[in-house]
Amino acid sequence: MDALRVKSVEQSVQDTEAPEHRLRKDLSALDLTVFGIGVIVGTGIFVLTGRVAREMSGPAVALSFVVAGIVCALAALCYAEFASTVPVAGSAYTFAFATLGEFPAWIIGWDLMLEMMLGAAVVAVGWSGYLNSLLESLGIPLPDVIAGENPVFNLPAALIVLILTAVLVIGIKLSSRVNLIIVSIKLAVIALVIVAGLFFINRENYVPFIPPSKQTPAVEGLSAPLIQVLFGVTPVAFGVLGIFSAAAIVFFAYIGFDVVATAAEETRNPRRDLPIGIIASLAICTILYVAVSLVVVGIQPYQRLSESAPLADAFKAVGLTWAATLISIGALAGLTTVVMILMLGMSRVMFAMSRDNLLPGGLAKVHPTYRTPYLITIIMGVVVALLAGLLPLATIAELVNIGTLFAFVIVSIAVVILRRTRPDLPRSFRTPLVPLVPILSVLACLYLMLNLPVETWLRFVVWMLIGVVVYIGYGYRHSRLSGHSPEDRRPTSANEAPAS
Ligand code: ALA
Repeated sequence: MDALRVKSVEQSVQDTEAPEHRLRKDLSALDLTVFGIGVIVGTGIFVLTGRVAREMSGPAVALSFVVAGIVCALAALCYAEFASTVPVAGSAYTFAFATLGEFPAWIIGWDLMLEMMLGAAVVAVGWSGYLNSLLESLGIPLPDVIAGENPVFNLPAALIVLILTAVLVIGIKLSSRVNLIIVSIKLAVIALVIVAGLFFINRENYVPFIPPSKQTPAVEGLSAPLIQVLFGVTPVAFGVLGIFSAAAIVFFAYIGFDVVATAAEETRNPRRDLPIGIIASLAICTILYVAVSLVVVGIQPYQRLSESAPLADAFKAVGLTWAATLISIGALAGLTTVVMILMLGMSRVMFAMSRDNLLPGGLAKVHPTYRTPYLITIIMGVVVALLAGLLPLATIAELVNIGTLFAFVIVSIAVVILRRTRPDLPRSFRTPLVPLVPILSVLACLYLMLNLPVETWLRFVVWMLIGVVVYIGYGYRHSRLSGHSPEDRRPTSANEAPAS
């Protein structure tokens, strides 16, 4: 079947060499690790920790971070093998194209748009919230129509997206320098939380570490987790099961290590550096998350943690107002890089999709001076700015989780397939214990997905169906693999931008 035509790994790699599509190769393993931390540490640890500890897991929230970290580690081992074998922009999209075929690849690309564009919008709104709370403490709050709980249009969120779009157009090296500074601030703040917090831990707050499970009021209808609807498992808060439900939410905190793979073409030595970047950033973040969450529930009884700014507020509660202010500034910086890198990843996936003509091919043009995919970046920036300005937050974040978990499932399956179909390819990183690790990865991701609400599943299915319609209406006919596309027949012209 045509829709399952596969794009060979060799062809994918060859495409990256076409002068008009060549990106600048600037990044090292360290850059990628910093990139990873830049996109991973954000709303998850700075905001979700409080809500999850209060409502679902108590002090055992640290264990939820361990569980979600293990799920991600399984997927990361699969991503690392792929990234070292197919070092091409586009991440899971490219991997799926090389193994499962064009249609599944399109579906994944479409799914990644959901993850990264909505993710960027959600985090931009969180950023705006932190900005507002900081300005409030300085006595200059923003008017409710443009910021706060329910603004008509969230102006700071839209503006930060547009500013970061400009940074991305100007170039990845600048972006990675900006990123390095901001990530350093973010890590300094996290270190402050851990070290200063140690002096204020009250051991009694850890008892009981896993509070006894409690029946929650039955969640009805569309907000019930799918696992409840399918298997009649009533959701419980706390207890051992609570740790797992909480893991499905704090999973958000880890989203981003997969985005490292989208920078493949801008990496000097991708076969070696991508696996290092993916695994190192995930490992560092897991350690930080467990430490931060242990400290925070040690400082303040979990029932009293705040839902919007738990880290800062825990320090306020013990009288360290200066630390709370620093944490707010760090959170603001931290969320900035998350938005920026999610958009960077998104532009690279769309770049790969339009280079294959599944999206209009002209979009993949690289800027003659900056050597960045500027058209795609600008269009995406405007869309994300509008989403950030107009969208209500909460449930949208769960959509981001389901989209990401779905991509993890596909990548894990694809690793096993590529081992069978192309055993000959050089793999500088090999996922250990194949097929056991990929199978565990699929099962773990599916389990977390089942813990998400029915309405999240419905929204996800609707988005995917729209994707199928777009593919049938456009991509199927225009694809470079269809043999009908003008791009396919066009010789490389002499006036195309020279590679730098
Ligand atoms: N992992 C990112 C965050 O926590 C998306 O904000």
